[in-house]
Amino acid sequence: MSSINNRPLGVFDSGVGGLTVAHAIKQILPDEALVYFGDTAHLPYGDKSEGAIVNYSRRITDFLLEHDAKLILIACNSASASAYSILRKEYGNRVILLDVISPVIEYIVEKKYSRVGVIGTKRTITSGTYEAGFKRKAPETGVVSLATPLLVPMIEEGFIFDDISNAIIRSYLSDKKLDGIQSLVLGCTHYPLIRNQISKFYNFDIDVVDSARVVALKLRHILEKNKLINTGEEPTEDRFFVSDYTDYFEKIAGMFFEGGNINLTVADIWN
Ligand code: DGL
Repeated sequence: MSSINNRPLGVFDSGVGGLTVAHAIKQILPDEALVYFGDTAHLPYGDKSEGAIVNYSRRITDFLLEHDAKLILIACNSASASAYSILRKEYGNRVILLDVISPVIEYIVEKKYSRVGVIGTKRTITSGTYEAGFKRKAPETGVVSLATPLLVPMIEEGFIFDDISNAIIRSYLSDKKLDGIQSLVLGCTHYPLIRNQISKFYNFDIDVVDSARVVALKLRHILEKNKLINTGEEPTEDRFFVSDYTDYFEKIAGMFFEGGNINLTVADIWN
């Protein structure tokens, strides 16, 4: 019989964004199996209401528990901002939940920057979750945040490293609000896919921080602390689910995992 240690890590996002974190997890914890859910039927989350995202997140959490997840990572800033505290209250006695916002705030606080920029979806930015987190942990840090809603549809449509994405990125990052920042937090798990273009805008002069590696390291710490690390005795396959099939999800997941040969299933959990 399989022990809890050998059960998979549940990870979810609205689409491909969470794959950036899932990929970092596999690099740091290669013996852990993943069960990933991309809610492509509801993408993008960033322009949805808090209530809608909470409902999606609850249903996905149930799905991941049905698939034996030993821990659930909300690999989406919009869902972390909207649903993390509610899911912890509702599911905290059954499963460990982790968000992608708190580990990044902890990481940045250590750096003692005086002025930090945050970009993210409308949902994440209007929730004020980053500002509130910095205010609690490092009130002396000046935080400026900017919603950059075109970036997720742009990435999901495959506009990366081209003139269109360059123009959009340049237009957002030229906002005066962001002048003088020492660090820019990519407050959306999709944005690591355009991280180089963003760093290039700043001539690689500022610290561009994404959640992928920071969250994967935090996850390893939590697994170790709770004695949940997989012993590697029964390596199981990573499984990927989407609520609606898209070529793009398959392409990006294939780029990140299993030499392109991913186990992808459409799970129509909304009907
Ligand atoms: N990758 C997600 C985030 O971190 C979701 C973006 C979206 O679906 O709008 O916010």
